[in-house]
Amino acid sequence: MRTTLFDDMKLRVFTTGDGSSSVYNETLGETYHSRYGAVQESRHIFIESGLKQMKSNKNIHLLEVGFGTGLNALLTLALSKEFAGIHYTALEVFPLDADVYTQLSFDLGRGEVDAEDLLRLHQSEWEIPVKFSDLFFLEKKKCALESYSGGNNEYDLVYFDAFAPDIQPRLWERAIFCSLFQWMKQGGILVTYCAKGQVRRDMQEAGFKVERLSGPVGKREMLRAVKPVIDNRK
Ligand SMILES: C[S@@+](CC[C@H](N)C(=O)[O-])C[C@H]1O[C@@H](n2cnc3c(N)ncnc32)[C@H](O)[C@@H]1O
Repeated sequence: MRTTLFDDMKLRVFTTGDGSSSVYNETLGETYHSRYGAVQESRHIFIESGLKQMKSNKNIHLLEVGFGTGLNALLTLALSKEFAGIHYTALEVFPLDADVYTQLSFDLGRGEVDAEDLLRLHQSEWEIPVKFSDLFFLEKKKCALESYSGGNNEYDLVYFDAFAPDIQPRLWERAIFCSLFQWMKQGGILVTYCAKGQVRRDMQEAGFKVERLSGPVGKREMLRAVKPVIDNRK
């Protein structure tokens, strides 16, 4: 008997439009990335619209919702030298098995990270911060976003990369954005591929200032939510 969404999942690795891999979850009928290109999508949404908006002299505390293939972590590791330091916390309820993640291939083109790094990201221990370099620590948590407690004013940046609202509506409820708002620092940024009007309104209700940005190839828009800075001098 199937008891949770993640029992008896059938996964298949496939090649997306830019030559990079992604995973298709046959049970949910959902891909982990855009079919137009996993790397181009992740770079556009999470790196260009999120990470690259951070100040380089800052130590960044980052939260990813859905570690999945590890692509966002790999792209972030590749850029970690450009920042004072990155502490990357990733939540995941359904870690990929080795027979899936060893089939993944992401050619990032610059030679700063490679297939070995992707394996290290997947094989690193869970529940503790693991040092990849002086500038990059990864802390993977086998924990559902709904059960996570992020602490107050902790995160500078959130990669919100859950499955779509029609697949996992609970993860896109206003209460979730209220929690994320509390966990994020003032001026902190949350980026997501989703541009649904209801999601944008729920983020606004939670207190975020939300921008609609142009999306990656194949997608018209995406969202970037910023926790406003409160000027206490007024
Ligand atoms: C769209 S995929 C993206 C994964 C990843 N960011 C990537 O680039 O491969 C969504 C991920 O969220 C994970 N997930 C599903 N439910 C979750 C939950 N309640 N809390 C945290 N992660 C969850 C899934 O297992 C899946 O790996």
